[in-house]
Amino acid sequence: MAVEEMEQLVLGLGDQLRWAADVEAPAPIEVPGGLLIVGMGGSGISGDLVSVLASVPVTVHKGYGLPAWVSNRPPAMIALSYSGNTEETLSAVEEARDLGLTPGVVTAGGALGEVAVGNGWPHIIVPGGLQPRAALGYMMGSLLRLVEDSVDLKPGDFSAAADLVDQLTGGLGRDLAADLAAGLRDRIPVIYGTNGLTSPVAQRWKTQINENAKWPAWWNTMPELDHNEIVSWTSLSTLTRRHVGIIALRDDSESSRVEARYNLTARLTGSDVAWVGEVWAQGVSRLERILSLCAMGDLVSLELARAGSIDPMAVPEIETLKQLLAEEPL
Ligand code: F6R
Repeated sequence: MAVEEMEQLVLGLGDQLRWAADVEAPAPIEVPGGLLIVGMGGSGISGDLVSVLASVPVTVHKGYGLPAWVSNRPPAMIALSYSGNTEETLSAVEEARDLGLTPGVVTAGGALGEVAVGNGWPHIIVPGGLQPRAALGYMMGSLLRLVEDSVDLKPGDFSAAADLVDQLTGGLGRDLAADLAAGLRDRIPVIYGTNGLTSPVAQRWKTQINENAKWPAWWNTMPELDHNEIVSWTSLSTLTRRHVGIIALRDDSESSRVEARYNLTARLTGSDVAWVGEVWAQGVSRLERILSLCAMGDLVSLELARAGSIDPMAVPEIETLKQLLAEEPL
C-alpha cells in the first residue's frame, strides 16, 4: 500500500542524515561574499532550510536562469535537483557556466549529475530511486556538507538531529500528528511560521501536504502576516469558520515581541477560522529544531493521505506537466 511506502521513506529521514554526515564530500565550497542556491520543489526546499543555518548571506533562487545581480557580483553557487533533469535548475546552471561560475551540485544523477562530473565541479551524488521530496535528509544533509564552513553546525549536530527525528517518526510524534490531522480534517490548512527558523519549515509543511495528501494548503510567516493577512479573515468568515485550520510552528527562539504578536493575532482572528493548532520545535541545535518540525509535517501529511485513502507517492500532475513541457518548442 502506497501510504506504507511513503511512511518507510519518512522513517528513513534519520538514516538519510547519517548517510550525508558520513559521505565522502569535496572540500567545503568557499563562500567569501554570499551563496546562491538554485533548485525547485522538494529539492529547492533544502536551500530554504539551510539558509536559516548559514553564517553568510544566502539567496535561494527558484526559477529559470539566474537573478540579474549575479553577473555583477558573482556569488558561490550550488544547484540542487534530485532528478538532475529539472529544466529551471538546468537553465540556471547553464547560465552560470556561461558566466564562468563553478557551481557545486547535489543530485541523484540525470543531466545535472553528468555536467557536474564532466566538468569536475564539487558535487555529491545521493542515492537514487526516491521521490525528491522524500530525499530531504540526503539533499539537505549533502548541501550542509558542501558548505560546512559557512553554516552554524557543531560536531554531533547531525547525529543528534538524526536520533531526534527517528524518535519522532518512530513513535513519539505519532499521536500529535494524528491530533493535528484530525484538526485539519475537511479543512484547508494554513501553516504559519513564527520566526526565521520556522518560516521555511512552514513552506515544507505546505508542500508536503500538497504533494503527499493532494490537499490544498498555504503558508505564511509572522510578523509579516500581521501587516496584511490578519485583515483577511472576516469577509468570507462563514466559509473560513468551517473550512480553514491554522497550524503555527513555534520555537523557543521566538522573541517576546513575536510571542506577544502571536497571542494577539490569535485573539483577534482565531474565531474567524475553524481551528488553530500549534507544534513546538524540539531539540537543542537549530538543525534539530528545524528537522523536528519537518518530521512532524511529514507525519501530518501522511495522516491526511491515510484519512483520504490517497496515494502519497504519486504526483501525476507534476510528472505530466514536465512531459508536456518537454514536447513544447523551446
Ligand atoms: C516530487 C517533488 C517535486 C520535485 C520538483 C523538482 O517529489 O517533490 O517538487 O522536487 O518537481 O524536481 P527535482 O527535485 O528532481 O529537481
